[in-house]
Amino acid sequence: MRRQLSLDVLVGADERRRALCDDVRAGLGGPEKHIPPAWFYDDAGSRLFDEITRLPEYYPTRAERSILASRAADIAIATRADTLVEIGSGTSDKTRILLDAMAAARHLERIVLFDISHEVLADAAETLGRRYDVDVHAVVGDFRHHLGSIPAGGRQLWAFLGGTIGNLLPTARRRFLDRVRQQMGRDAHLLLGTDLVKDVGRLIAAYDDSAGVTAAFNRNVLAVVNRELHAGFDPDAFGHRVRWDPDERWIEMRLRATRAHTVVVADLDLAVDFRAGEEILTEISAKFTPSQVADELAAAGLAPRAAWRDDAGDFQLTLARPGN
Ligand code: AVJ
Repeated sequence: MRRQLSLDVLVGADERRRALCDDVRAGLGGPEKHIPPAWFYDDAGSRLFDEITRLPEYYPTRAERSILASRAADIAIATRADTLVEIGSGTSDKTRILLDAMAAARHLERIVLFDISHEVLADAAETLGRRYDVDVHAVVGDFRHHLGSIPAGGRQLWAFLGGTIGNLLPTARRRFLDRVRQQMGRDAHLLLGTDLVKDVGRLIAAYDDSAGVTAAFNRNVLAVVNRELHAGFDPDAFGHRVRWDPDERWIEMRLRATRAHTVVVADLDLAVDFRAGEEILTEISAKFTPSQVADELAAAGLAPRAAWRDDAGDFQLTLARPGN
């Protein structure tokens, strides 16, 4: 049989635009300005994120890769999964470690990739399709809304890596894990990557690197709004701000207006006033303790089977399955 490569676009240009309009109107129309982090990832933003993953200060990608390298074979054998479902797959770079192990265990039959970024996803699907002799099904969607469109079938291993779950607020996180458990089926597994609470200096440095790549990534969201909604943001009128919230245990990334000014978002007929020093919240990146990960999984009906950390204890991968 010939292997198949398919691409489902759940968030087409129209829906994407509608969602951006809603998010920008809601996020910049009120007193607590915010833009959801999903909008970072246009082509330029995805490339900048890729660059972030190679920065000396940004440890999570390397830490997660080292855990995968030492545990992928165990994971492939323990789950006996024939289908890898990756949520927020991006370039699917680290995923290959998992796929190689699944292929070596002679189980791998199908790959499902789910991401918000159409171009990056299409590239990744093609690359993986060429490398592994299996069907690749790519879905362009927003994991906050479209998990229901992930096809059932096979013995699935769902992977949500990179610590991206930390972008969700606690209630959204709970909803997300509930949906994952409902969607993935009784004999599936979830492999969840979570960044761990650690020294605040290192956390801040990971989001405020000395080369300024994360600052460029943060400001890029303004370029996205400019291009797609004909807004007049001057990215240079905003500084990159990073703070650690010790009570919530999350990193906050913000864009801070360096002077009082007004930005017109033409397509929304919206004029947004900024005071000098006023901030837009662009991302939270929650950090976890190991017991918190276990508790949050259990609250969603997912029983942890194993948890692994890198040598430095910076990052954790947890393997869980439906049950209590
Ligand atoms: C892709 C969401 C895991 O929160 O660390 C990196 C995004 N933001 N630097 C993270 C990000 C700034 C990243 N995630």
